[in-house]
Amino acid sequence: MKLCCTVNGEWCALDDVPGSESLLRLLRERLRLPGTKNACEQGECGSCTVYVDGEAVCSCLVAAGQIDGSDIVTVEGLADGAEAHPVQEAFVSAGAVQCGFCTPGLVVAAHALLAKTPDPTDAELREALAGNLCRCTGYEKIFDAVRIAAGKTEAT
Ligand code: FES
Ligand code: FES
Repeated sequence: MKLCCTVNGEWCALDDVPGSESLLRLLRERLRLPGTKNACEQGECGSCTVYVDGEAVCSCLVAAGQIDGSDIVTVEGLADGAEAHPVQEAFVSAGAVQCGFCTPGLVVAAHALLAKTPDPTDAELREALAGNLCRCTGYEKIFDAVRIAAGKTEAT
């Protein structure tokens, strides 16, 4: 199928896309945006989280046929040119990145949380990130990163 969408602010027109191809594959393989990670491809890990029309979703569960006319924002699109987004910076300053595989999905999920709830409680924070799995860290540094981004604590 032919489809058009906006990805990170740029209009994209794509031809010959199977309607059942996942948005995750479309982003990584057709649009060469490798920030969005493919881990489980079953909606279980959150590594592939992106915004579709302002909602953070698992891109492995979204079919290309569903995104015609949509506005997609990936982790790459959160940065302002070469300048990292404060949530991205907070993950670095908190030491919340080890292998980094889960990080883009967590950054988008944290960004979505703070957009709706700028001053989250710890319970809200844990609930918001519950769908994002990390195999490396003990999560506390990830939670610290979100607290830093929310201005609740300082980077150490
Ligand atoms: S790759 Fe999509 S949720 Fe795991
Ligand atoms: S830092 Fe490796 S999976 Fe999270």
